[in-house]
Amino acid sequence: MKILVTGGAGYIGSHTCILLLEAGHTLVVIDNLSNSKALSLSRVQEITGQSLVFVQADIRDETAMFELMKSHAIEAVIHFAGLKAVGESSQIPVNYYDNNVGGTLALLKAMQKAEVYNMIFSSSATVYGDPQTVPITEDFPLTATNPYGWSKLMVEQILSDLQASDPQWSVTLLRYFNPVGAHPSGLIGEDPNGIPNNLLPYIAQVAIGRLEKLSVFGDDYPTPDGTGVRDYIHVMDLAKGHLAALERNTNRAGRHVYNLGTGQGYSVLEMREAFAKACQREIPYVVSERRPGDIAECWADPAWAQQDLDWSAELGLEEMTTDAWRWQSRFPNGFEE
Ligand code: NAD
Ligand code: UD1
Repeated sequence: MKILVTGGAGYIGSHTCILLLEAGHTLVVIDNLSNSKALSLSRVQEITGQSLVFVQADIRDETAMFELMKSHAIEAVIHFAGLKAVGESSQIPVNYYDNNVGGTLALLKAMQKAEVYNMIFSSSATVYGDPQTVPITEDFPLTATNPYGWSKLMVEQILSDLQASDPQWSVTLLRYFNPVGAHPSGLIGEDPNGIPNNLLPYIAQVAIGRLEKLSVFGDDYPTPDGTGVRDYIHVMDLAKGHLAALERNTNRAGRHVYNLGTGQGYSVLEMREAFAKACQREIPYVVSERRPGDIAECWADPAWAQQDLDWSAELGLEEMTTDAWRWQSRFPNGFEE
């Protein structure tokens, strides 16, 4: 199939491109490189021994999107492009809505014009807000607590309204839990700008000596060890979920929603311990205040994805931490050359 991948130079996009190429798909990747480097795509081609077309462009450029879809006879779009820093989204909300919502609208207009009706969208477990219970199923109430989360929810709504208005569309909403890890080659991985906000990249930078110690944000949550519990999922499992969704839902009209998680929660201290084991180093830490907006626990019920997509996560904590460490130790400065 001929697929347009937006944001394909980024963390999840680049890992997904590997599996798409390996499955024989033809890829046109567009990315404005606002949060990534083109080197990630060179590595994707090195790993797979196959080539893809990369165009540096912005999804808000409707004309460019339309022309690319037309000239490459695109059949489906996998839409990763977006801004994703929760804290930053509260400081510059207009940029977040412009990029994530405005960008998606431009992309959808180009798709309509080019008559491409298959869309797979990167949503997030953040759309469940602070869930009343765990595990979380797809029919839980939806809400948001920050502009990033609202932008995901708004795009979900726009895609749902579009599908309802024109039933030939196939719209797939993938709600990711906490993606971690890297391709087992160690050639690509997560490369956050500045000091990481997320737990695993932070721990990895403590392990490599770029940061002094981990701050554990609160140890008085109502969880077994008092620290926050999340559903960490290996990025290669997540990538596999995209392939499954593409194969199942392309030209299968409807609105399809899936949790992509493992169904298993781990605490901050469990993650720290697992990483220390993988890298054979101490990870010093202090307990600090809770981070505003954080919830106690969050993990998926992945049964629907298993049933409808025949997909489930296969990689455990050991692979997540070992693969993250291989990438971090091989390239301590990420894609910086
Ligand atoms: P990422 O920042 O590594 O990748 C996003 C890519 O999109 C980057 O390469 C960036 O340069 C590009 N981009 C941003 N705005 C663009 C625009 N206007 N035009 C073209 N390219 C643009 O992030 P990621 O972790 O790979 O996340 C991919 C998607 O998954 C995002 O939509 C994100 O919100 C969503 N998501 C991520 C997580 C996570 O923890 N990583 C969790 C849930 C959902
Ligand atoms: C964050 C985002 C969420 C996004 C998700 C996916 C916030 C508030 N939420 O979720 O919208 O969908 O990433 O990537 O940013 N922790 C520490 N010390 C640290 C960093 C994190 O103790 O230095 C703890 C947190 O309190 C939390 C857990 O580690 O309990 C995971 O945090 P993080 O990796 O930031 O992910 P989420 O908060 O789940």
